[in-house]
This record gives sequence, C-alpha cells and structure tokens, in this order.
Amino acid sequence: MKTIPTEAEKKPLQHIGEWEDFVLQHYPEPAGADRKPAVGYAPEKKEAEFRNYEADARPTVREFYRLNHTHQTHEFALAKRKQYLGLDRMKMGVWEAAEYLNQLVDDSDPDTDMSQLQHLLQTAEHLRRDGQPRWMILTGFVHDLGKILCLWGEPQWAVVGDTFPTGCAYSPKIVFPKFFEANPDSTDPRYNTPNGVYEPGCGLDQVALSWGHDEYIYHVCRDYLPEEGLAMLRYHSFYPWHREGEYSHLLNDKDRALLPWVLRFNPYDLYTKSHSKPDEVALRPYYEDLIREFFPDKIRW
Ligand SMILES: [Fe+2]
Ligand SMILES: [Fe+2]
Repeated sequence: MKTIPTEAEKKPLQHIGEWEDFVLQHYPEPAGADRKPAVGYAPEKKEAEFRNYEADARPTVREFYRLNHTHQTHEFALAKRKQYLGLDRMKMGVWEAAEYLNQLVDDSDPDTDMSQLQHLLQTAEHLRRDGQPRWMILTGFVHDLGKILCLWGEPQWAVVGDTFPTGCAYSPKIVFPKFFEANPDSTDPRYNTPNGVYEPGCGLDQVALSWGHDEYIYHVCRDYLPEEGLAMLRYHSFYPWHREGEYSHLLNDKDRALLPWVLRFNPYDLYTKSHSKPDEVALRPYYEDLIREFFPDKIRW
C-alpha cells in the first residue's frame, strides 16, 4: 500500500546541490582536463574513483540514494512520464523558466552560495568561452531547468540523482547498489534479466530511465534543439552509461553515435562550479538573443 511521503522523505538533502557535490567527489576532475575531448573520447577510470565513496558520503546523501533506489520502480518511472510529459502545466519562456527555477531558494548551496541560475550561466559561459556551437551553449543554459519539478512538489529523489534503466537488471556499477534490495522490482522476475522488458539493442529511446529532471527537460526542448543537444539533456545524469560504460546491450547505433556528445557536455556540468558569480544582468541580453534563435517566446511545460 502506498503512503504519502513525509517532508523528511521528500527532502533528505539539505539542498539538491548536495547530490551534485557527491557526484563531483565521485568523478573528480582529471588533472589537466581538456574540456573538448575528441569524438570517440572515453574517459579513463581514475584511481580516486575507487575510493570508498559509500563510507565517505554524507548521511543526507546516503539517505537520498536509499529513497531514490527504493522508490524509483519501473511503474513509478512510467507513471511520472504520464503525469508530466503532456506538458500541460504552464506556458513560459526559457529565461522566465530560469527565473522561476531560482525560486528554489532552499536549494542555494551554503558552501558556494550559488543559485540554480548561476549554475546554468556558469555552464553555458564555459561552453561559450571554449568556442562550442551556439546550440550547445544554449543546451548548457537549459540543462537543469527540469529541476522545476521540485517546485511542483516532487521529492528530491524524483528530480535529481544518477539515472538508471528501470524494467531490467540493475548494473552493479550504479552507486549504492545495495539500496536496490528494498526496491520491489529487484524481486520481480520480469525485471531481473539483463534486458528485462526490453529487446536487446532496442535503443535508449525505448528505455524508461529512472524519473528526473533530465527526461523532463528533454521533452520540453525536443522540438527546438538538435539531437546531439537533446541527448545531452536527456542523459546528462545517466552516469552508469556515459561514465561507467554499462548497458551496452540496450544501445543502438544512434546511442553509440550520440555518446561522445554526452561525454563532451559532462565536464561543463560537473567541473565549472566556481566562486565567481556570473553577472546575471549583464549576460541576460546575450542569452535572450540565443534563446530567441531556437525557441519561440513561450513553450509548454
Ligand atoms: Fe542536471
Ligand atoms: Fe547541472
């Protein structure tokens, strides 16, 4: 029987940036990192990644993953798609959505005092500085707008977190794999083979990843950005695939072709957090222009 989650179960983290801080610890920036890896780049696993991350994680982060792995069932992932992907909640522009997301005041990270809008601008500004294509700069600017799901009452573990396929066996390389033991899918025979409910090589488009801000923003933007940008949006938290190389049996040629683009984006998301705050007022006209180049005034959310 389902029970309504308590406030503590909805917000195990002090702020959702705590999850990202954990990911950054888990995948530290390689020394001398080049943010423009050649197509076909696959990062080497670094010594530091083998640290005992479970023991080092904050209790709040551990509790976050416990709830995420317990409650993100295949049924849940499908139900959330049904609930949100009709995009019938509101109509608003992209800059407006960034300001709306910024209302997530209890999310501002006390360590860096960075708002969500500042993270988006830092990501996008690094892409711009590196001479990346305009559509990719814009992808950087929108990539986390799906976190507005938090403003609609979704628990943190249904908005952020490393995503993983539901409906098939869990990769042991997903962080905190023990917590899947409490997920009812882990004892459901339909979901316990490598392919589970999917055909081998069906392509990630057919796979219901655990629900979160990635899948949502992908659908919001799917008519407006090129497919390389859409893959960056949809899979940027799918670390078991893009950093661990898991789930190759579900991929098709399109996924294999898009992986280098997802990898190209990842360092801009993870390694561009700095203490110097981008000037929102000065940057706004540039981003308003860029948004106008690809999006209509209002889009559906
Ligand atoms: Fe994200
Ligand atoms: Fe991000």
